[in-house]
Amino acid sequence: MKGTAMAAPTPADRFSFGLWTVGWRANDPFGDPTRPPLDVVDAVHRLADLGAWGLTFHDDDLFGFAPDAGHRDKQVARLREACDATGMTVPMVTTNLFSHPVFKDGGFTSNDRSVRRFALRKVLQNVELAAELGARTYVLWGGREGSEYDSAKDVRAALDRYREALDLLCAFVTDRGLDIRFALEPKPNEPRGDILLPTVGHALAFIERLERPEMVGVNPEVGHEQMAGLNMVHGVAQALWSGKLFHIDLNGQRGIKYDQDLVFGHGDLLNAFALVDLLETAGYEGPRHFDYKPSRTEDMTGVWDSAAANMRMYLLLKERAAAFRADPEVAEARAVAGVDDLATPTLAPGEGYAGILADRTAFEDFDPSVAGGRGYGFVRLHQLAVEHLAGAR
Ligand code: GCO
Ligand code: MN
Ligand code: MN
Repeated sequence: MKGTAMAAPTPADRFSFGLWTVGWRANDPFGDPTRPPLDVVDAVHRLADLGAWGLTFHDDDLFGFAPDAGHRDKQVARLREACDATGMTVPMVTTNLFSHPVFKDGGFTSNDRSVRRFALRKVLQNVELAAELGARTYVLWGGREGSEYDSAKDVRAALDRYREALDLLCAFVTDRGLDIRFALEPKPNEPRGDILLPTVGHALAFIERLERPEMVGVNPEVGHEQMAGLNMVHGVAQALWSGKLFHIDLNGQRGIKYDQDLVFGHGDLLNAFALVDLLETAGYEGPRHFDYKPSRTEDMTGVWDSAAANMRMYLLLKERAAAFRADPEVAEARAVAGVDDLATPTLAPGEGYAGILADRTAFEDFDPSVAGGRGYGFVRLHQLAVEHLAGAR
């Protein structure tokens, strides 16, 4: 590939994959599986060979729904052994509160109280396992927490129950002294017609209403924000700004449609470029987790090729973003655009409203036609970004 001496992925890159991603058998609402089942031990070994660092899973991915204790222990032991043999880690664990019919109206927010209590028990049991495996993050994706019919769901009561669940989980982790933080994963719809906490912004606002907001952050997914027509980079930037980017799901999505789960960068490539630039310059140290689905057209070779493609794409974008920032013409274009000037506080040190009210240059003597006539050169700056991305510079 032109101009790139890109290194292969290594565990230092902190790339992780869900067991349900490479393990997806490609059954969709219209068709049967096209691939054989994938054993967890194989998944760990293959991903380690490709340079990945971590494997994540839902309880059901590893040992099924309601396993007997023997099967559960056996599967956990097999996962541990594979991790010990390869150096792979389990940085995050999550719960399946969506596949079994019992969760058809949600887990934490089902109208049926017995289902809510069962969901809490299922998560509590799995949080302990997560801690035993060394996971530091526990993701909660509430795919079934929502509705199709406004008449059928009291949204304010549902949010009360959601909060009740999170408060209980945080109390449990605190009392048991577990080193676990929770990350809420927003999604606007699918499988429910409308899902509660549909965007990063909704989740951030919800977190502030909890008893222990410091223990809860977000796990934004590229495709989920883009399904809502939103800018993933803005969502992630606000999560970072709030100190709440606990985890991230990287994948690709092309516009407002069903959740495509394409390889990272195979959807909105420019937004992916800006996202990698943000993660790499903002000091985000968490996992780079891929939540994609190898397309239904792929055989097992295609599964591993696509897994490798996610990591290669991230490293390629990281390299391109660094080259973009190092380019003197970009530095000059950024200066013209005033990008770094936004970091200067609008008020002078110690200045308050009295100061700005007394400053005639801010208003009475200010000539709006000067700034109004300024060209920011944003298009030129963006073209430089695209040229770096395209390998033209
Ligand atoms: C989806 C979600 C899930 C979650 C997973 C982790 O759209 O199906 O992205 O893949 O990330 O359940 O909790
Ligand atoms: Mn998704
Ligand atoms: Mn996800």
